[in-house]
Amino acid sequence: MPTDWTTHFASRTRYIKASVIRELLKIAARPEVISFAGGLPATETLPVDAITDACNKILSTCADRALQYGPTEGHYPLREAIAETYRKRGVPCTAENVLVTTGSQQGLDFVGRALIDHDDRIVIEEPTYIGAIQAWRPCGPQFVGVPMDHDGMIIDRIDLSQPFKLLYLLPNFQNPSGVSLSEPRRRQAVALAHRHKFVIVEDDPYRALRYSGVDVPAILEIEAAMLGKDWNAQGRVVHLGTFSKVMAPGLRVGWMIAPTEALRMFVLTKQGADLHSSTLTQYIANELLRNGTVENNYPRLVSIYRERRDAMMEALGAHVGARGTWSYPEGGLFILLTLPGVNTQDLLARALERNVAFVPGDAFYPDGRGLESMRLNFSCMPPDKIHEGIRRLGELLGETLPADAAMAAG
Ligand SMILES: Cc1ncc(COP(=O)(O)O)c(C=O)c1O
Repeated sequence: MPTDWTTHFASRTRYIKASVIRELLKIAARPEVISFAGGLPATETLPVDAITDACNKILSTCADRALQYGPTEGHYPLREAIAETYRKRGVPCTAENVLVTTGSQQGLDFVGRALIDHDDRIVIEEPTYIGAIQAWRPCGPQFVGVPMDHDGMIIDRIDLSQPFKLLYLLPNFQNPSGVSLSEPRRRQAVALAHRHKFVIVEDDPYRALRYSGVDVPAILEIEAAMLGKDWNAQGRVVHLGTFSKVMAPGLRVGWMIAPTEALRMFVLTKQGADLHSSTLTQYIANELLRNGTVENNYPRLVSIYRERRDAMMEALGAHVGARGTWSYPEGGLFILLTLPGVNTQDLLARALERNVAFVPGDAFYPDGRGLESMRLNFSCMPPDKIHEGIRRLGELLGETLPADAAMAAG
């Protein structure tokens, strides 16, 4: 008789759902598919030679340490190098405030395990990053969505009448919308967190990928400027970073920055999760950070992705036009396309027949709304494929758009 595993799974697994993106990516990986579904850096931007050189150097000079177990907090020189980049921006942090994680996704997992109790209210942007929903759902929180406009979450719309545990913000070129939180709203969020005593989780993988506009201080930096030397005692921001989008996601190196008391709990959580992140890839990341590879790669990343963003903007104008509205991201990897009256799940099935993939918008809402929108990734396809993929989508819309929706949109 086959084993019925459902009788053995813990009750919290009831909340676990497969990520539609990871499922979709399996289909979208076929070479004939023009995929706007992933969130990957373009393969040609990966610093392969620098990583090869770093591996050779590490394995010939310190293999005994790089292949050994290491401290849970992470490789000290890497923690120090990360702290240094934030100190330069005014955050009075040291290596003691930095925990190296296995990608920033692990940081989200630790936030869930260390901070979120069943029924806690968690305030999120609407839409938000699917990986956070996935990480936190097993903790059983209530997700409270707050709408966004072109300046990010409308902070004034947060319902302060009931207490909540944390506010989750993606300040730069949000995944999935591409929208950034304006500086006044970042300041407003910090002020509220201190007045109402909640935690802000700032998830910031994309800041370096800016193609237009001007850099805006991180929420962590705004808080640090406000608190000065009291930041370590009074800070309420947990900041997540990653090398995935500017180095290589396969290295799985990210970090958390927090006041030491909070960081200590994340460290204990990590001990139980994986002892520590890969020592070897931490050594590689440290080498690339210190020898200038990461910084020297920015201009190339920015020029390739800017061209692709512009290509997608142009293609949307030409092939979707008045049938939809879309965000104009100043950086990052994504555009959110809204198509009033269209069910993008149905559209996806038809698009896949024409070898085009995207992510339907309901993936980015905990309660399945957002079906009239889709996330389009522009970083992985060259401009000619972007034009062709959007042309096919536009063609499909011409066939499927209900007449009344077309009138409403037009
Ligand atoms: C907003 C956001 N947070 C976290 C992650 C996870 O990145 P990683 O675990 O590769 O650092 C991603 C990846 O796409 C993301 O978009």
